[in-house]
Amino acid sequence: NKGKHRHFMEKEIYEQPEAIAYVLANYISLIENPADPIPSFDFASIPSLAISACGTAYLAGLIGKYWFEHYARLPVEIDVASEFRYREIPLSPQSAALFISQSGETADTLASLRYCKKLGLKIGAIVNAAESSIAREADAVFPILAGPEIGVASTKAFTCQLAVLAALAISAARTRGTVTENEVQALVRSLAEMPRIMGQVLNSIQPQIELLARELSKYRDALYLGRGTSFPLAMEGALKLKEISYIHAEGYAAGELKHGPIALIDKDMPVIVIAPFDRFFNKTVSNMEEVAARGGRVILVTDEKGATASKLDTMHTIVLPAVDEIIAPMIFSLPIQLLAYHTAVFMGTDVDQPRNLAKSVTVE
Ligand code: F6R
Repeated sequence: NKGKHRHFMEKEIYEQPEAIAYVLANYISLIENPADPIPSFDFASIPSLAISACGTAYLAGLIGKYWFEHYARLPVEIDVASEFRYREIPLSPQSAALFISQSGETADTLASLRYCKKLGLKIGAIVNAAESSIAREADAVFPILAGPEIGVASTKAFTCQLAVLAALAISAARTRGTVTENEVQALVRSLAEMPRIMGQVLNSIQPQIELLARELSKYRDALYLGRGTSFPLAMEGALKLKEISYIHAEGYAAGELKHGPIALIDKDMPVIVIAPFDRFFNKTVSNMEEVAARGGRVILVTDEKGATASKLDTMHTIVLPAVDEIIAPMIFSLPIQLLAYHTAVFMGTDVDQPRNLAKSVTVE
């Protein structure tokens, strides 16, 4: 039932504040109760963590990598499952592995899990479908708790995967002693603010996203740029746009711009720059200036502080509330998802059932 929404995708985008609140209600206790360690996952003793997944779930894992490394000082090896399973990665049996999947049935992700299991690693699964193959074969299951996701393009499962990963990374940081108690409390407070801020963003940005989407639907290509956790989010933005609107889109690390993609920049190449006012902001802005200097049209997605700091004349600037670094990827996902959604609606594509795609990919 789509309720008042035109598509399941739209409904699922708007369900995110509630879904995230539910995830947090279940995971914050995991951070706050060190006496209650995560089943089978002793983050304090593992030398490294391997993560494998496909598509959007892989991009959630890539953001998780930044968090595990930054907060918990835990080295992370990550790859798309179709490469991971065949790469013959020399993994230590003392390590743990995490597999992320909405459906819990993705063939390559399941094969990666079995590969790690054979090597003797502890297996954790971040899955939405509780009764799935990946959940059954894991030593520890971390439910995504997003509720059923019907739209083929993943939205709420992605942000809920991120919320689970953030909670695990903070919990790992705490057991590894790499953050202070005060820092843990501040991170938990930031996480707890997410549902309210998400609701506020969803209530306010739709009109401007629709105008922008009308514009974007006239182009054949688009480039997404970001640094730090905004880099995987740039790839997620490009994936979402291409899969439902069929506009060719690519996501790049902003610093890679001058190593090739800058050759593509002209007036026909809109560049969506994801730049919260974080420690990377100034560097990303200088990449944006390079785009503008070559006639590229910049769509800047930033926060209040970033909008004040940037003097650039953009095609459009989406301004979000300024939030803590740990929750920025989830908050910035919202305009990225809505932009893809409304662009596809303007293009008249089958948003919930994009051509050639299936919700669950059970063949490699
Ligand atoms: C993109 C999308 C896909 C899935 C991928 C993995 O919007 O939905 O890229 O993320 O097929 O699927 P799961 O999470 O079921 O393993």
